[in-house]
Amino acid sequence: MSLIEALLDPQVTVRTIHFIGAIIAVGAVTATDSMLTYLHFKKRFSQVLAKVSLLMSLLVWAGLATLGITGAYLIHTNPEIAQGTFFHIKMTLVTVIFLNGIILNEKIYPRFQNLADEWPKRTDKVSRFEKFAGIFALISVMGWWTIMLMVHLSPYLPF
Ligand code: HEM
Repeated sequence: MSLIEALLDPQVTVRTIHFIGAIIAVGAVTATDSMLTYLHFKKRFSQVLAKVSLLMSLLVWAGLATLGITGAYLIHTNPEIAQGTFFHIKMTLVTVIFLNGIILNEKIYPRFQNLADEWPKRTDKVSRFEKFAGIFALISVMGWWTIMLMVHLSPYLPF
């Protein structure tokens, strides 16, 4: 099958778009967490990083929406994919990153915007918030990377 023929097959095209959604979201999550780690050492960038984190969050949601829509199509057209343990574990992790994303959006990012000005002064509030936010940022990056690596290594997994 040539590349053109392959791309005309909706299964191949939708899987490719699914893959692109994963790259966008995993990329944005990784960039956000790297930025926040950097912020721990270079506190004066808090204002600009607080703004960039909002754009990154948008990219993660756009990636997740793309994954959800294309994933739903792939399951609709091959319902047997949704039966195995692998898929159930993947969906459990998707639920975790989705709920964690809501907490990041509703609680963590707004607070980060509010604290951006006093960040370089390293107040108690900032230190406490940094630890609290770090937990959710870690869940996010680990969840996304686990799913990505699980899919990549699926032929070698015991489930
Ligand atoms: C939102 C819910 C999701 C659904 C319903 C879903 C569903 C699927 C399905 C049905 C497949 C095809 C599996 C097969 O043919 O055996 C697939 C492949 C894949 N999924 Fe997902 N998925 C979702 C989320 C994710 C997430 C969050 C990631 C990344 C972190 C991801 C990464 C991938 C990758 C890399 C592939 C392989 C694509 C390819 O073959 O090019 N998926 N997904």
